[in-house]
Amino acid sequence: MTITITRQASIAVVTVDHPPVNALARAVRQGLVDAVATLDTEPGIDAVVLTCAGRTFIAGADVSEFDKPPEAPHLPDVVAAIETAAKPWIAAIHGSALGGGLEIALGCAYRLAVTGASLGLPEVKLGLIPGAGGTVRLPRLVGAAAAIDMVTTGTPVKAPKALAIGLIDRVIEGDLLAGAIAFGQETAGQSAPVPLSSRPAPETAPDIWEKAAAQVSAKAKGEAAPLRALASLQAACTRDFPAAMAFERETFLSLRASSEAAALRHVFFAERAAPRPPELAGVTARALSTGAVIGGGTMGAGIAAALRDAGLPVVLIERDREAADRGLANLRAIYDGSVKRGRLTPAEAEARLAGITASDDYAMLSETHLVIEAVFEDLAVKRAVFERLSAVCRPDAVLATNTSYLDPAEIAAGLRNPERFLGLHFFSPAHVMKLLEIVPTDDTAQDVLATGFALARLLGKIPVRAGICDGFIGNRILKVTRAQAERLLLNGATPAAVDAAMRAFGLPMGPFEAQDLGGLDIAAFQRKAARARGETPFAPVGERLCAAGRLGQKTHGGWYDYAAGNRTPQPSETVAAIIAEEAAGRPHLSFDAERLADAIVLPMVNEACRILEEGVALRAGDIDLVKIHGYGFPRWRGGPMRYAEARGLADIAKSLTELAADGLADPPCTGLQRAVVAGNFSCLTTHA
Ligand code: NAI
Repeated sequence: MTITITRQASIAVVTVDHPPVNALARAVRQGLVDAVATLDTEPGIDAVVLTCAGRTFIAGADVSEFDKPPEAPHLPDVVAAIETAAKPWIAAIHGSALGGGLEIALGCAYRLAVTGASLGLPEVKLGLIPGAGGTVRLPRLVGAAAAIDMVTTGTPVKAPKALAIGLIDRVIEGDLLAGAIAFGQETAGQSAPVPLSSRPAPETAPDIWEKAAAQVSAKAKGEAAPLRALASLQAACTRDFPAAMAFERETFLSLRASSEAAALRHVFFAERAAPRPPELAGVTARALSTGAVIGGGTMGAGIAAALRDAGLPVVLIERDREAADRGLANLRAIYDGSVKRGRLTPAEAEARLAGITASDDYAMLSETHLVIEAVFEDLAVKRAVFERLSAVCRPDAVLATNTSYLDPAEIAAGLRNPERFLGLHFFSPAHVMKLLEIVPTDDTAQDVLATGFALARLLGKIPVRAGICDGFIGNRILKVTRAQAERLLLNGATPAAVDAAMRAFGLPMGPFEAQDLGGLDIAAFQRKAARARGETPFAPVGERLCAAGRLGQKTHGGWYDYAAGNRTPQPSETVAAIIAEEAAGRPHLSFDAERLADAIVLPMVNEACRILEEGVALRAGDIDLVKIHGYGFPRWRGGPMRYAEARGLADIAKSLTELAADGLADPPCTGLQRAVVAGNFSCLTTHA
């Protein structure tokens, strides 16, 4: 039974049991409406407690129903039925009350929650706004400012904050159901609070909407839903309840059918599929209760923090005692940052640090389950590390490399037990960035691969399986992006115009600003390695900037100039002169922002088709996850592959052909041409 009703003296308890998260599927909605009808006419009942079985309160709508026409009873009617019930309903919240779950709770007369519970309206994260009165009832309960914050960001609040802003009536310590029943008995006979639908719109400061609109649009970067959510809140605070409800519903339905919401649903499902690849179903991962990192530099310290944050005791091995101390200092800096940002208390940070042992003694690794190497990007250095590891580690320990550009198979060559080796490519800063590329070699055992995915789950990261090639999935596409960006410069575009076009497309920064931030030497190092392999990488301007010592912000100049102590990029005359020299003899074209963005994004898609055909990525959706979580591609566009499919593959190929005619891109590869014929990218993945 999805909904059951039990009675304890004069209190009825309605329990929703719809695993895994009690989402508001049609059966749940119908069950709630029926429960209201049953209990309204039942004598001897003073109040109704609404509770959920399993790990959470109602955690939202059933996202899988979004692509189908809405089915009655509609959620606004369910909330209205609870709100106008003859008996007061009391929401007893544990886990999360999200989206429709919180809207149901707002229909209740009272809301109670355990300390750890979260309450939120995260619809904007799916390109939507609440559609069952969330934007209309919430400001009537907590005021406009708190509602703007919750609805436009979609970020949930924890129970103590919910109590402080008036979203809940009480935090329950101990047994939630017992506490809720006691609350029901305590309030029996009192007059219930005025339903939110009958309360007046809250008073607001005169400039609140203007200020909020400026803030929200600055953050939204082209995304529609947060501003539409704000408009709905404004309607809620300036119109009467029925008019505001109608406005909200209309907005909700139009967003539900939007390409942005479909793109965000695509990402939502891709993220949920990623940690559990079907090909590893039934394969048991190896033990993962202790971890070690070799190398305590930028990446090693971040990886050690990520392991530690997931609760593992961590050993950090460096070259010598002094380097070990530096590694520990890097970790301290990470945790000081967490304290400064309010993510950890000083005591929590100390406890994390206390669980990390830094040493130069490999013998400490004899019982470790997982070792991740993050030493210099040098084949000989890495091989020497793995030789030592294979001598000291237990034979079933998983050994991983964080290499960016070396071939993991070459690193593992000669390793005893090569089946326990794989690539685990983290992104910087490793304790923050969600992406983890998992790179098996031909020798990697299935249970070792499964351990890579289990690690991602443990660390809360998004794993994507990648095959071996220069740069795996993400950096291989990045290489194309950088080359494209330079190509544009040689044909008349400026760094500032290219960066502005990519920001307008929705990226947090453009390719030149990003290089200045990360340092131009990283790409130079990659090009050097490529030349050693006999390739001829394309970066005429980038090479000259590196040769001139312009490595980015850290040298106060890269693609832009930077005043001392200032990170604002200023167009550089020196760079303009170098570009002009390198561009001599080439046609000077004029571009609008859309064409510039096309010249960056469409070649990404072209390269991604090659990646799919070669089996370097298993699914187009995986490439989307890599670009979104590793490189700031706008989530609301669904990633480059989803963007291409939504725009139409024929149009992508046509635009790419036009760019190619002007010498601005390579023409569509055979993979893209095949995808155009098939109408999707799945035809490229049949190699598996
Ligand atoms: P880094 O230079 O900051 O750190 C390397 C550390 O390894 C140094 O602390 C060094 O003392 C230590 N080390 C060197 N040889 C050692 C040995 N034999 N035993 C123990 N420790 C040793 O370098 P970074 O940036 O942390 O990179 C490390 C690895 O991570 C490289 O393979 C790099 O390609 C990869 N990577 C780097 C990313 C980045 O954004 N920096 C992103 C993803 C991967």
